[in-house]
Order: sequence, then structure tokens, then C-alpha cells
Amino acid sequence: MIGRLNHVAIAVPDMASGVKIYAGALGAKVTPPQALPEHGVTVVFVELPNTKIELLEPLGENSPIAAYLERNPSGGIHHLCYEVDDILAARDQLKAQGARVLGDGQPKIGAHGKPVLFLHPKDFCGTLTELEQV
Ligand code: CO
Repeated sequence: MIGRLNHVAIAVPDMASGVKIYAGALGAKVTPPQALPEHGVTVVFVELPNTKIELLEPLGENSPIAAYLERNPSGGIHHLCYEVDDILAARDQLKAQGARVLGDGQPKIGAHGKPVLFLHPKDFCGTLTELEQV
């Protein structure tokens, strides 16, 4: 079921500093910042030859990454995203095995314009896990 690693997401307190590290110091190609108000974040993708790094900065009052940044003020790895062919089939298979899907369990449209779901970190080795249908 599980496919490629689509991205590793890193929460950053300040996007400009994050971009400076990846585009400047590391010399990576980065996309322009994209505001996703329905997800409460601004995202930048760092494009690497084999995967992407998603930099996440809080956006708005109730950002889902605000609490994470309170616990990790300098930022940190926030989630991993794996690709699946059929997100509803993947969700149903995981739920049948006792995994918890966050939110209302319905896929939302993510930063790539494709359906995504998040899975409870306690069910995935302490790691918030995103599935993206590709
Ligand atoms: Co993500």
C-alpha cells in the first residue's frame, strides 16, 4: 500500500530563516511561499533529487503547528508524507487495523492540490504521518 516518501515536513518559526538555510547555505531549489489558510500554514517546498522537504510556518490564529513550535521553539521535524494510490482504500485498511485518522476522517486537498489525510502519531511510531494520493 505505502508508496514513495513524498516529503519530510519541518516546522519553522520563521520562514525567511528556513529558506535562507535551504536555498542559501544548502544551495537547494525552493518554491515560492504558498499560504494555505484552510491548513493554518504557509508552505515552501525544497526540491531534492529523491524527495522534498516541506517547510511549514504557522498562519493565522489556530495554526495546527503552533503547539508544536511552543514545545520546539527552534523548529523540528513535524511529519512524514507517504504516497498512496487510493487514499480512501488506504484509510479504510488502516482504520480496520485500529489506526486513528485525524480530523473528520475525510481527505482534504493539500499543498500539491491532491487529497491528503493525517494519521495519529501514537499509531505510527510516534510520528505524525500524512498520506497523499498521487
Ligand atoms: Co505535509
